[in-house]
Amino acid sequence: MSDKQPTLLGRSGGRRFLKPFARQQEQRPPIWLMRQAGRYLPEYREVRTRAGSFLDLCYSPELAVEVTLQPIRRYGFDAAIVFSDILVVPDALGQAVSFVEGEGPRLDPVSSAADLARLDPLRVPARLAPVYETVRRCREALPAEVALIGFCGAPWTVATYMAGGRGTPDQAAARLWAYRDPNGFDRLVELVTSASIDYLTGQVAAGADALQIFDSWAGSLPDSEFDRWVVAPTRRIVGALKARHPDVPVIGFPRGAGEKTARYARETGVDGVGCDTSLSLGTMKALAGTEGVVAQGNLDPLLLVAGGAALETRVRQILAAMQGLPFVFNLGHGIVPQTPPEHVARLVDLVRGQG
Ligand code: CP3
Repeated sequence: MSDKQPTLLGRSGGRRFLKPFARQQEQRPPIWLMRQAGRYLPEYREVRTRAGSFLDLCYSPELAVEVTLQPIRRYGFDAAIVFSDILVVPDALGQAVSFVEGEGPRLDPVSSAADLARLDPLRVPARLAPVYETVRRCREALPAEVALIGFCGAPWTVATYMAGGRGTPDQAAARLWAYRDPNGFDRLVELVTSASIDYLTGQVAAGADALQIFDSWAGSLPDSEFDRWVVAPTRRIVGALKARHPDVPVIGFPRGAGEKTARYARETGVDGVGCDTSLSLGTMKALAGTEGVVAQGNLDPLLLVAGGAALETRVRQILAAMQGLPFVFNLGHGIVPQTPPEHVARLVDLVRGQG
């Protein structure tokens, strides 16, 4: 059992999603899905077309609230995640970010001290104010029993996009910068870490009940680099949040961390760990048991595309393995656009025991 447990005890306020964090696990676990708002929903695609650019959608509270609520209306998930993106932080710092249809994000890469000097943390609060407004309106509009999750990207993952200028298969630009000029790269990571602390604090102040830190590229670092670029910045974020808001659970999602996941859980101080698809159910049980964190995960998003008996078998396996442990049902990574919406409804029924 972890020593942070008492501060979270009794604070669930009837929200099922928060109960595992207060060690009040119920028979059936809470469920939400990473990327639950998105292109697999026709009603999302309709709003997305109206919004213009993807960042316009992130910065338009009225539309962002609408797409945040769409999956709650359809499926009644136990938590909503505020609609935004991890790349609003570099955008707010002044690095030009755009999203190219079918190709993903594009940024003017940063690679030097001169590039870093052009980024301005003082721009961040005003630029991110619309996201806080979205959080405020979502909390007002959501049913009382549905929790609201705020989020940011972990500094390492955000830095891989800032250095690479796009999503890359191997995150080579950031890894090379970190090897060749660790102090220079550290300034980038520090800048993102501080902005992320402000961003998460702003979301809690606006009404977020819990937070998730997405470290989608944690798996690309060797053991020797993992502590400096993944664990240390995450620990700094969690520490700053805990100092201000000890009762708000923080979930870390170190995708691909594999055998380093338990160390991540222990050393960052997170309350919950998002488990990717590759982690065994044995590892998830150990995280939720011995390590004393809430385990969240880890259905393969492609099983949600496949549906049928394969989906059902795996969902029942996960539920049986995690029975009685502090656990939140989720995917091992985000929903993919080709997911049939009716398979999501089937999944929710299975987890709720109506299947
Ligand atoms: O429903 C939710 O989960 C809330 C919103 C959310 C989005 N992105 C919306 C989005 C969240 C939590 C994210 C996190 C995010 N964004 C991550 C971490 C999780 C992960 O998937 O690994 C990362 C790495 C990003 C960066 C990003 N944003 C990429 C690489 C892309 C392009 C790939 C893609 O799926 O298109 C995006 C765009 C994006 N972010 C979309 C959505 C719904 C699709 C864009 C569109 O609708 O045109």
